[in-house]
Amino acid sequence: MRSLGRGTCSEYWDWRAEKHDQSQWSGSGEVQQAVVAAVLSAVPPGASVVDAGCGTGRLSRALAEAGLLVTGIDSSPGMVRKAIATNSVAGRTTYLRADARDIPMPSESVDAVLQSLVLHNIVPDWRSAIWESWRVLRVGGSLVIVESFPPTAPACRRFFMTCTGLVHQRSHFTRAELLGALEETGLSVTSSLQVAIRDFSIDRWAKCVARDARTRVRLLELYQGVPPECREEFGLRQTAADVTITLRHELFSCLKIPATG
Ligand SMILES: C[S@@+](CC[C@H](N)C(=O)[O-])C[C@H]1O[C@@H](n2cnc3c(N)ncnc32)[C@H](O)[C@@H]1O
Repeated sequence: MRSLGRGTCSEYWDWRAEKHDQSQWSGSGEVQQAVVAAVLSAVPPGASVVDAGCGTGRLSRALAEAGLLVTGIDSSPGMVRKAIATNSVAGRTTYLRADARDIPMPSESVDAVLQSLVLHNIVPDWRSAIWESWRVLRVGGSLVIVESFPPTAPACRRFFMTCTGLVHQRSHFTRAELLGALEETGLSVTSSLQVAIRDFSIDRWAKCVARDARTRVRLLELYQGVPPECREEFGLRQTAADVTITLRHELFSCLKIPATG
């Protein structure tokens, strides 16, 4: 059994549980709509889904309301408490404290696993969460992943890593590394979809993710002074008191294929 809390920043996420849904990180419904459509198109009615790293449970709830049986797991007790209190659907949601690298389910027992904006928070062994999803999925089951990647241009990547480094630990894997890990695991990517979240407020984000006023101010200052060559990459717009950017997430639908040989 993997010990809970190891490398998961669970204490940080406990703190963030109260403010998480205000951060615009998942947009105003864009990610939710895309996730529900992707999962529903991949599973039979009433199917079982594990929402790994469920946070406050907003996606678990949307999936349950669409008729699925959802187990939301999260390594942060604060997130699990918040999910139970605010996003339970009678008879259709169960929330548990558990690690995405050690899902408390038998092998080949679930129809779909969702990992929304969770893999990059698993440091450093994010790949083991993909293997673990593969283990619990039945053959023909689906893994749906929502991720965001650091920019590839060196100056923008450096800037991004400076900013995220002020907030909490993060794995900085690339899109190619994620695709490589999926292939190695025996998961076939059947589709991918870009989800853009426009007018993402850095001021609002900083208030949700930084634990002290100094870090909040520093984050806003950094974005106000973003290197000119990165302005377009981030879709950056500056107002008197704030900076907004366009966040780009990508949703991958993957199928567990039968092992060969
Ligand atoms: C950015 S939030 C995403 C929450 C939710 N999936 C969503 O899309 O709104 C990341 C979540 O992953 C959880 N998390 C981080 N590492 C984890 C791990 N190893 N196992 C399970 N949950 C983890 C955090 O506690 C947090 O709730």
